[in-house]
Amino acid sequence: MNILEMAKTAGNVLPETYKVMTKEEMERRVRKIKQQLGSRLYIPGHHYQREEVIQFSDVTGDSLQLAQLSAQNREAEYIVFCGVHFMAETADILTTEGQTVILPDMRAGCSMADMADIDQTERAWTKLQSMFGDTILPLTYVNSTAAIKAFVGKNGGATVTSSNAQGMVSWALSQKERILFLPDQHLGRNTAYDLGIPLKQMAVWDPHNDELIYEGELEDLKVLLWKGHCSVHENFTTANIETLRAEQPEMNIIVHPECRREVVALSDYNGSTSYIINMIEKAKSGSSWAIGTEMNLVKRLIANNPDKNIISLNPNMCPCLTMNRIDLPHLLWALESIAEGTVINPIKVEKKIADNAILALNRMLERV
Ligand code: 13P
Ligand code: SF4
Repeated sequence: MNILEMAKTAGNVLPETYKVMTKEEMERRVRKIKQQLGSRLYIPGHHYQREEVIQFSDVTGDSLQLAQLSAQNREAEYIVFCGVHFMAETADILTTEGQTVILPDMRAGCSMADMADIDQTERAWTKLQSMFGDTILPLTYVNSTAAIKAFVGKNGGATVTSSNAQGMVSWALSQKERILFLPDQHLGRNTAYDLGIPLKQMAVWDPHNDELIYEGELEDLKVLLWKGHCSVHENFTTANIETLRAEQPEMNIIVHPECRREVVALSDYNGSTSYIINMIEKAKSGSSWAIGTEMNLVKRLIANNPDKNIISLNPNMCPCLTMNRIDLPHLLWALESIAEGTVINPIKVEKKIADNAILALNRMLERV
């Protein structure tokens, strides 16, 4: 479901009472419900969530850790997922029938996940099969809809996250001659490049024109990249790096691999959300860091590491707007709806889709 479709089904809009309640009152009520529900309730929170929400999460993690934790938790009846829609879908697929996954605000989508819809993907697959025959394995970043994960699962492929992308791409290329990597061209390109695959062996599939864009020889292509991107990480530019190198040469530059290839190439380090957190936490006291990732996380790293000099690589960076939809009023609303027995915003992936999507997820989970 894309963001527009979600907004349409989201007949549920935050009741006025939550808009006028004080922060202290909301926090008091969240604490009370958490205490009342105990282990019947589980609140996973992605690192990009706001502080006002993260303070109440039972676990905080990147997308891989949250998928693993959802697969392990068999105790909670209600999983209130503080993250975006595709993460809640993944949690629903990996949990049992009796567990209900709730997304506090249905407008918390992901623009990258919406860049590959299932019709476009089926069309691309038909065309690519006619060009390359049965030589392609599909891989999808978990930042994709359940329907895309199901497509990938049905065709023998797997999901990947930014923290296991290298291992998963290597595995896929040991199975077939080439891969189709959905929907983030940058993660796909950066990962393949780090594995030693030259750029001329990579092509971009443009889903709007149903066209493969490449420069080298068709038969040499190994990595077919879907033309999608993260609208947050694309805001880090080579100009940001050049300015910083000129003005503050002592800065270590670390970026997420959802950034463009040129940005990753000019940075000192690149890696997943967990990689960035570990690097900063282990860094020497007094060291200086410019970080190219989502702003809620950068702000948290600044607050938690007062002995280091940390800034955002882009001084005008904003948080991920869809991650930010999950705020304290929506969290409280979701929790009170459970306490009242009128659950709002449950995420339920259709069985036919879930049965195929889990194949793709399990192929990843059994390799990490
Ligand atoms: P990771 O948590 O895998 O680093 O993904 C980053 C992201 O963009 C989540 O939406
Ligand atoms: Fe999607 Fe990018 Fe936001 Fe992650 S940071 S949820 S990939 S738009």
